[in-house]
Order: sequence, then structure tokens, then C-alpha cells
Amino acid sequence: MKLNLTDMLFSLSEALDIVEHEMTGVQSDHGKHVAYMTALMGIAAGFEGEELSDLACVAMLHDNAFTEYAREEFSAGNVVDVYELKKRADLLNGDDYICFISGSRHSAAGERNIALIPFGTDVKNVILYHHENADGTGPFKKTAAETNFKSQIVHLADTIDVIWNINTLTEREFEGMYEKICSLSGKMFSKESVELFKKGIKFEDFLRFQQYGAEKLLRDMTGVGEKDYTDEQIHDIAVFFAGIVDCKSSFTRTHCIGAAEKADVMTKFYGFDADKSIRFYLSAALHDIGKLIIQNDILEKRGKLDDNEFANIKTHAAATYEILSKIEGFEDITRWASNHHEKLNGRGYPRGLSADELTLEDRLMACLDIYQALTEPRPYKAPISHKKAIEIMEEMADNNEIDKNIVADIDKCFG
Ligand SMILES: [Fe+2]
Ligand SMILES: [Fe+2]
Ligand SMILES: [Fe+2]
Repeated sequence: MKLNLTDMLFSLSEALDIVEHEMTGVQSDHGKHVAYMTALMGIAAGFEGEELSDLACVAMLHDNAFTEYAREEFSAGNVVDVYELKKRADLLNGDDYICFISGSRHSAAGERNIALIPFGTDVKNVILYHHENADGTGPFKKTAAETNFKSQIVHLADTIDVIWNINTLTEREFEGMYEKICSLSGKMFSKESVELFKKGIKFEDFLRFQQYGAEKLLRDMTGVGEKDYTDEQIHDIAVFFAGIVDCKSSFTRTHCIGAAEKADVMTKFYGFDADKSIRFYLSAALHDIGKLIIQNDILEKRGKLDDNEFANIKTHAAATYEILSKIEGFEDITRWASNHHEKLNGRGYPRGLSADELTLEDRLMACLDIYQALTEPRPYKAPISHKKAIEIMEEMADNNEIDKNIVADIDKCFG
């Protein structure tokens, strides 16, 4: 299947950046900021083409596991240090550098996650070591000689975005930043990365960033279009995305991946051709990606949601549309994914489509979502048996919410 992976990763990072911003108070668009500065240093290192674009993508997703580990790392009292204003002041004003945080969990999990993405160039351990200090005082106690310089430039770019506000950076502040970073050479940052910073990042780059935004500049620097991926690679990409969405909340640890696996069975049952099958699988894996931007206290509320909360949670379907519709060639995938809460009687959301507007694929996605939700375990409920799930779904079909024939087919396939 042809896929514009860069587009896809851009879309994901947009959603992830929103989550991270809300959870940590780090600047919005953190991932893109880090990718932009990493790319500038990458260019200074002589990277171009796919190598540059892969590095920028990895930098953009360096905190991809944050949704899963932020709360843990926060409550452990570790990662929070990075974002504490007091520490910021230490780094800006103090003579000594401060040793940053733990951060080992989201680095290790982020590395594990990203290994599923079929990059064409070597980006191994870039995320794993993105919090390592050159002198071995980072979470894994690796010195610069033991990490790789791609991870070192991500670490430098990451630190800049955490400490300085590049949205409003003035020339004076840039000079202070320059001095501070040079003074940390060989301590917090590797000498090589500091040299690349000096060579690759000028004050004008921040001005251009303030004028055009990181995304446009990044796309200009790293533009890679569609590429062909094997079914196996698409499966891996789907698992990566589903995993990130599923990890957002402990309530739905297996939801997207479970829905995708069941989609696989059903597309075989209906005899979809290979291309459509893999696209439908991907769509199922992504159907709840809009949930990334819904706050966890609503996602995980026990008991009944009030009207506002319910209205809020419902926006995830439209958010899925927003996120996926930006990806080149994703029209059908976007449609199936974002219609998964539509109902035949027109009472669904986000668009309130009616039966004659809902295709077999739309209806199938809606049924799979419900079947998966009913039969998966959640902290507040044991999984419901297949038989009971089908009973509930038959009742919904009687209310003209979902397609009766598809319910019968699901019963055949999974009974
Ligand atoms: Fe991080
Ligand atoms: Fe970060
Ligand atoms: Fe949903």
C-alpha cells in the first residue's frame, strides 16, 4: 500500500503535542519544535533526503510514550523537575548546569514503540537516549561515547524547547542561550552536538520559525511523499498508532488493536480485496485517535458522565476526522474511522448521518467498535461474553442503531 508516512507522523505528533502540553505544561507543539531544531542541526551535520526526514520524524515523536508514562513519572517525582520553573531559573542563571531528571520510562517505551515504524535509515536508540547527558548523569548513565549523536542533538533541541520560549525568543535571549549551551558542552551536551548547534542554528532560524511555524519549515526541509509499504509494514505502523492511542488511558488498553484484529477477520469474511482489507485494518486501528485530545479524567470517569462531559467525549469522533483527513490518500480510511459512532437512525455523531448515507464499511466499523468495547476488559467491568454482547447488539439493531446483518455476521465469525 502507498502511504505518506511523514504526513501520518505529523498528524500524530500534532495530537501528541496537545496531550503533552496539557499534562506537563511544556510548550504546545513541543514535538514539532524539537524536530525543527533537530533538522537544522541534522543539516549542519550533512544529512539530507530520507536520513534527514527520518531523523526529524523521530525527533517529532521523541516523547511518543509520554501519554502512557507521564503520570507515573510525575508521581514518582522525577520528570516533573524538568518543567519546574525553579529549575528553569537554575539553568538560566546558575553557574552550574543542573542534572535533569529521570525520564527513563518514557524514553525506553518510546524507543520500543518507534521500532515498529519502518524507517529507511538508522534511527536506533535516538529516542532511548534523548535524556542522556554527555557526562553520564542521565537516566541510563550513558556518556556521550556510549550514545549516538542523533540522540545527542535531539537532547539538545529538547532542552532548548523546555527551557526557552522559542515562540518569543529575542536576539538577546538567543545570545544568552548560545552562551549557556556552549558552557554545557561536554557536561550536559556532547561536544559534537554543541558544535552542530553553533553551526546549524542561528537567531534568524528562530525568526523564520516565529514567522512561518515549525510545520511549514519542517516540510520544506524534509519533504518526502508517498512510499510503498508491504502489508507487514502497514500492520506494524497500525500497531504503533493503535498502541499510542490505547495507552492514553488504562481503561482502553486493548481497544484499538482489538478492533483492528477483528477487522482483519471480518474483511476476510466479506472478501474485501487485499488493498481494501489493509486500509480497513488501518482505519480500525486509528478509529479512536481523536481520543488522544480528550482529557483522561473524562475518559476515566467512573459513573455517569454529565451532559458537558458527554458532549466533550463525543468530540473525539470529529477529532479523528480532523487528524486523519490531513493525511494524503487517506480519504476512505478517514471516513470509515470517523463514522464509527454514526447510527442508522440518524442519532449518531459527529454528523448524524442516516442509513442511506452509511456504507457497509461504515456500519461494519461501528459494529466492531461496539463488539470490541463490550468484550474487552475494563477496570470497571469484566469482559462481557460473546453471547451477551450479541444480545446487546441485537437489541441495538432492533432500535435501528446498527446493522442487523452485520451483527449476525459477527456472531458467525466470533461465536
Ligand atoms: Fe522526553
Ligand atoms: Fe521532550
Ligand atoms: Fe470511539
